[in-house]
Amino acid sequence: MPRLIREALESSGVGGQDRVSTGVDVVGDIAIVRLASFGTREKRRIAASLMERTKNVRAVFEQEGGIEGELRLRRLRHLAGEKRTATVHRENGCAYRVDVAGCYFSPRLATERLRVARLAGPGERVLNMFAGVGPFSIPAARLSGSRVTSWEISPLACGLHEENDKLNRVGRLVKVVEGDASELSEASNARYDRILMPLPSRSNEFLPAALGVADKGATLHYYRHVLGRDEAEAEANLAEELAELLPRGAKYAARRVRFVGPRWVEMVADVKLAG
Ligand SMILES: C[S@@+](CC[C@H](N)C(=O)[O-])C[C@H]1O[C@@H](n2cnc3c(N)ncnc32)[C@H](O)[C@@H]1O
Repeated sequence: MPRLIREALESSGVGGQDRVSTGVDVVGDIAIVRLASFGTREKRRIAASLMERTKNVRAVFEQEGGIEGELRLRRLRHLAGEKRTATVHRENGCAYRVDVAGCYFSPRLATERLRVARLAGPGERVLNMFAGVGPFSIPAARLSGSRVTSWEISPLACGLHEENDKLNRVGRLVKVVEGDASELSEASNARYDRILMPLPSRSNEFLPAALGVADKGATLHYYRHVLGRDEAEAEANLAEELAELLPRGAKYAARRVRFVGPRWVEMVADVKLAG
């Protein structure tokens, strides 16, 4: 159980530290909690207590259910504090305007975003197929000086991504395209050295589109939710999937990004295509 929630349970007097279906994400000054096994009055007491204890939190929302739909959104219910879902989140030396109800954002991917940003090189042509508000694309441009094209289907996320480009002074290096990444190759003849695919629920469906715009020897970062009780099982299942999908000569190294459910692991395969 996360420390923030454990302490809020203790100080609110609600108790229930033994319940497992709890969690918290803090995005900017907004806390998003999961408290499925508590009643509404208990949830409000826990939220008020969390705000009292954590001075930088100005609003608390409950996430009902998982992250859902094409835009990967959370269903949120207000519990305490200000009734707003827009905030500014700081991560890896960058600042992001985010609307936690209207677009996807997870603070749990900071380390992975930094890892990928550091792998990119100056002048490299990077494509992010599922860019959100820019937390993979912007550090890749800012830390590595690569030229990034971000595709994103949500108009709200695209608008915030463009604001974030300016906020982080990478406007010259980053281009945002509002559109469906399955139509990439119809939209332009551009080719890329590095392609990011951070849509782990469905990235397999978009692999043909990615391969269609990848240059020879390009690197793909293929994120995928994989069934597995542990990392070894998840890796074996990912290997089975990739054996069918990758072209001849492609090599990859897989690693765990995070556990996302009792039997689900988010994995990433760094794929190197043949030169
Ligand atoms: C899991 S989120 C990741 C966003 C971002 N990379 C991040 O880490 O915050 C996936 C994103 O892909 C976008 N998306 C979903 N389907 C898409 C498609 N067909 N083409 C382009 N973007 C899409 C969603 O709107 C969402 O913002």
